[in-house]
Amino acid sequence: MTAITAHNPLRVGIVGTGGISRIHAENIARLDGRARIVAATDIDAERVRDFVETWNVDTGYPSLDAMLASEDLDIVHLCSPPGLHKEQAIAALSKGINVLSEKPPALSLADMDEIAAAEQAHGAQFATVSQHRFGGRAQWLRDRVQDGALGRALTAVCNTLWYRPDAYFEVPWRGNWNIEGGGPTMGHGIHQMDTMLSLLGDWHEVVAVAARSSRPVETEDISHAIVTLDSGAVVSVVNSLVSARETSYLRFDFEYATVELEHLYGYSDDSWTITPAPGYEDRVAEAWKLGPHGIGSGHAAQFAAIIDAIEADEPLPVRLSSARGTLELIAGIYASAFTGARIRRGELDASSPFYRSMEGSGAPWAAELQKASASGV
Ligand SMILES: NC(=O)c1ccc[n+]([C@@H]2O[C@H](COP(=O)([O-])OP(=O)(O)OC[C@H]3O[C@@H](n4cnc5c(N)ncnc54)[C@H](O)[C@@H]3O)[C@@H](O)[C@H]2O)c1
Repeated sequence: MTAITAHNPLRVGIVGTGGISRIHAENIARLDGRARIVAATDIDAERVRDFVETWNVDTGYPSLDAMLASEDLDIVHLCSPPGLHKEQAIAALSKGINVLSEKPPALSLADMDEIAAAEQAHGAQFATVSQHRFGGRAQWLRDRVQDGALGRALTAVCNTLWYRPDAYFEVPWRGNWNIEGGGPTMGHGIHQMDTMLSLLGDWHEVVAVAARSSRPVETEDISHAIVTLDSGAVVSVVNSLVSARETSYLRFDFEYATVELEHLYGYSDDSWTITPAPGYEDRVAEAWKLGPHGIGSGHAAQFAAIIDAIEADEPLPVRLSSARGTLELIAGIYASAFTGARIRRGELDASSPFYRSMEGSGAPWAAELQKASASGV
């Protein structure tokens, strides 16, 4: 492909003009004109009109089909509720248009495999938003894992301790299995788990517990998991929507240093700290000086990487093959929590109910919820 510049920008179509679409628009505006939103669609006419006016978009459409029929797009960004991602992705891929989907990319491993089949059939690519992989210090840590400067990763902590009041779940697609696809394990902790796996490598086995402690949801509002990685490192993962002192916290204990990242929805260099193990101070200080510096996490960094990949005719970053391990881990957490079993990576094949839905064979509290709803409580 020819150079993607302000004179020849990537032509983007936005699907769903709610909350996250604004982050997409703001971050596209930071790309020196290399991408332009030329079209947007939402089933809510007022929202799409407002989005088109605010972001100077050429045309708003009442449906994805209408947008795909009229526009010559390079990529569509799916900013719609998770339960729509698969069908909308397949609609765009089957027209040969690349897709960047907000997280989670799909509701299940089965849906992910259907998207992969559509990619193959139509020769277009599907990528997932995973903005925290793209900050400078995450790239730095990926490089240090590769070059071994900090030694082996021995253990890690991966916490998403967020707070969502009951009112948050009034949006009809939240808190249920068939549209949001899960609770904080699926919808919120996915960021931290994905970043952790992208740094430390694939997982091997998980054992987990999930609970519906207090929120008006069908899904869990808390999960705890112990994950063993292929490398042998053992990771504690906590996902919660009931934690008043909110934090997104990743801690990596390597042989020669502890590296910590604490933020909420996005990080800068200042969000990271390093503590050398005794005797390794000089070696760790040298490693810490290496770049890249000054790149915060956020959608703009991932969008820029996508444009570079399209320009270079390379695979998009965070394709399905790269995101699948994270969705498999999420399915593994639910499968372990709901059945009491230890789950190995690769075990959740088409014969497992957890392949088709994160709810799988059913949450332990499902019967109680059904009884309560039948009695009108
Ligand atoms: N990457 C992140 O940090 C991040 C943060 C927040 C949300 N998200 C993800 O973004 C997605 C959207 O979340 P949100 O908070 O913006 O939700 P939202 O409810 O604010 O917006 C979703 C929009 O999609 C529209 N929509 C519904 N059906 C549609 C259809 N058939 N065609 C087109 N539009 C349709 C709705 O009318 C709404 O305007 C979710 O997958 C969510 O998990 C990601």
